Amino acid sequence: MQDRILVVDDEEGICDILARRLTAEGYSCTTAHNGKEALHYFYKDTYSLIISDIKMPEMTGIELLQKVRAIAPKMKMIMVTAYPDIDLAVNAMRLGAYDFIIKPANFDLIVMSVKKALENKRLEDEIDAYHNRMEELVEERTAKLQQAYRTLKKAHLDSVKVLAEAIDAKDPYTRGHSDRVKRMSLAIAKQMGYSEERLENLEYGALLHDIGKIGIKDEVLQKQGPLNNEEYQYIQEHPLIGVKIIEGVEFFKDKIPMIRHHHEHYDGNGYPDGLEGEAIPLEARIISLPDAFDAMTSARPHRNIMSLQDVLAELERFKGKQFDPKVLEVFLREEIYKL
Ligand SMILES: [Fe+2]
Repeated sequence: MQDRILVVDDEEGICDILARRLTAEGYSCTTAHNGKEALHYFYKDTYSLIISDIKMPEMTGIELLQKVRAIAPKMKMIMVTAYPDIDLAVNAMRLGAYDFIIKPANFDLIVMSVKKALENKRLEDEIDAYHNRMEELVEERTAKLQQAYRTLKKAHLDSVKVLAEAIDAKDPYTRGHSDRVKRMSLAIAKQMGYSEERLENLEYGALLHDIGKIGIKDEVLQKQGPLNNEEYQYIQEHPLIGVKIIEGVEFFKDKIPMIRHHHEHYDGNGYPDGLEGEAIPLEARIISLPDAFDAMTSARPHRNIMSLQDVLAELERFKGKQFDPKVLEVFLREEIYKL
């Protein structure tokens, strides 16, 4: 494509000779006789290069340079002047002029400068195009990676859900227990201002809190009737069995405290470590509430179903004993038990 050059000089003779010379070199030229006129052409059309005199009426070449570069910071401008002055030259170059030529103009020198400037512009355009293409490629790849990450993350959570269902299936009376504990735990944590990352961690912990039950014999888990002391102690091993099951998996490392401590009591009378109050990880204090609530409201062969009113009264009775008062307060205030 033919490069278009805007030639600006208040001396019509110079302007015309220069335009003719550049036309002979194969460029398409437009002439203007002051900065204002030049600016008008610049707004109207697209130019590859501007050659401008500096000292002109109405608007100087320096003003023109500033106005053009403000809109088109990459525009190549060659400044020409009959009044050589080092400060002027430095200023013009600082404002982004490509070259500074002194009159009386040596046309060969100007043509050479034009060729160099246009070659420079072509290289810059190529680099820009290359950068744009690279950016597009990076965006495309990033989008694909993000999609793959989402798919992988969902597949991972789905397999943990399947595992949680398998845990619940060991005990026919706890179908859906892990999922309900997860939903209510997340609702409590949201009210407590948990970050997305912490919520995600809690989601896994809540789903897997009873994973240790995999290691508990079915006949004890599924026993019809109350458990004897020995059986009760045996079942209390499940948080520690759970820790053993997952401790070798890097991803689950930070879920260990939730699994280990979900049967601790706020007053220190829980198991396995008898931790008390704030010493129990907050996630474990959260999980333990819906865990107990769901167990109370599930049908058991040796126990009648309690009414919701009785269950809530029971929870209140254990406030500060089994349950963290703050967690219980959120659970009751937000009616999270209705989830
Ligand atoms: Fe448990």
